[in-house]
Amino acid sequence: MKVRSVDEIPLKGKKVFVRVDFNVPLTENGEVAEDHRIRAVLPTLRYILEQGGRAVVASHLGRPKGKPDPSMSLAPAARVLEKLLGRPVNLAPDCIGPEVGNMVEKLGAGQVLMLENLRFHSEEEKNDPAFAKALAALADVYINDAFAASHRAHASVDGMTRYVSACAAGFLMKQELDYFHRIMEAPERPVVAVLGGAKVSTKLPILKQFASRVDRIIIGGAMANTFLKGMGLDLGASLVEHDLLKDAVEVLDAARARGVQVYLPVDFVVAERLEAGVTTKVVARDKVPPGWIAFDVGPESQKQFAEALKGARTIIWNGPLGAFETQGFEGGTMAMAESVAKSSAVSVVGGGDTDRAVHMAGKADAVSYISTGGGAFLELLEGRTLPGVKALETCSR
Ligand code: 3PG
Repeated sequence: MKVRSVDEIPLKGKKVFVRVDFNVPLTENGEVAEDHRIRAVLPTLRYILEQGGRAVVASHLGRPKGKPDPSMSLAPAARVLEKLLGRPVNLAPDCIGPEVGNMVEKLGAGQVLMLENLRFHSEEEKNDPAFAKALAALADVYINDAFAASHRAHASVDGMTRYVSACAAGFLMKQELDYFHRIMEAPERPVVAVLGGAKVSTKLPILKQFASRVDRIIIGGAMANTFLKGMGLDLGASLVEHDLLKDAVEVLDAARARGVQVYLPVDFVVAERLEAGVTTKVVARDKVPPGWIAFDVGPESQKQFAEALKGARTIIWNGPLGAFETQGFEGGTMAMAESVAKSSAVSVVGGGDTDRAVHMAGKADAVSYISTGGGAFLELLEGRTLPGVKALETCSR
């Protein structure tokens, strides 16, 4: 269904409520540690301001459990936004109420006000209609550019769209949905999916989707262990989800039955514990010594995975292939970043860890797109409709 875009509605002089996702990591001193999500909404904000809109920017940060918590204030994000936009960004003391209403009324065309953390009110996560109405009362127009929060049916993502006269997607939201369309709905073939991370339990629904949509699946990370154990291999003390052995094998069998080629690790980098500088060995996947743990895919697996990417026209990557943040176990993930970067395929990477891995490899500029979504990206891959997108579709009618 069609979602209206921010450049399809009049903004001049309007109070424009912009839901963004500034749920960014903070340093110990409370400064923004990584500003990717803030930079990502600049095109939308600049456009609104150039059009003479009065921008009211709203976000959550962390999980403050419905009460104000100064350690989760949006003040650091507002400071970064001010610097990046090159114009003043005042922070309101709250996100609803008469004082905030007055501040919004005083905003001139081309000015920006940032609201305080939406989750300082428990009603935000409860999608409370009265709270949603109070948010909507601040705005003439609603723009959702918070792709990464759009899997949450919260008041600022879902409820308030029922009480505004016009709503639309921001440019980031559009871009995220367009790339999703390019990789999952109308991809150029062959499509290669790379799936890693620790747990199969969180990835089975995605694998089921991949089974009917992609041509090759590469599986790494600790989740690969559960598949290999299900095939009867002994993996020493490696992490295995024993209650999912049957499901894991079934989903791969179903994929193979549809002609999907599945690549699992053939060797591992193993150690007795996860620690930088610890003694490691490279072993074949059926030779993990008792008590040893697989923490990364080995060099032969890396070679086979690189082969599997050859000729790909579309690549979807979620999840690291090993414990890449510990020195000695980054090889598999870095090699994958290298191969994806070299490929001429449309490549989309998503999920917090994978994003970090690609940056660590210095390959962020060489992939086609890095999604700002963690949970939201995964839910799209699972084939679910995001509540925030559904709300935009409904109010775009
Ligand atoms: C995210 O960082 O994935 C989003 O901002 C959602 O945050 P949440 O998991 O706390 O709802």
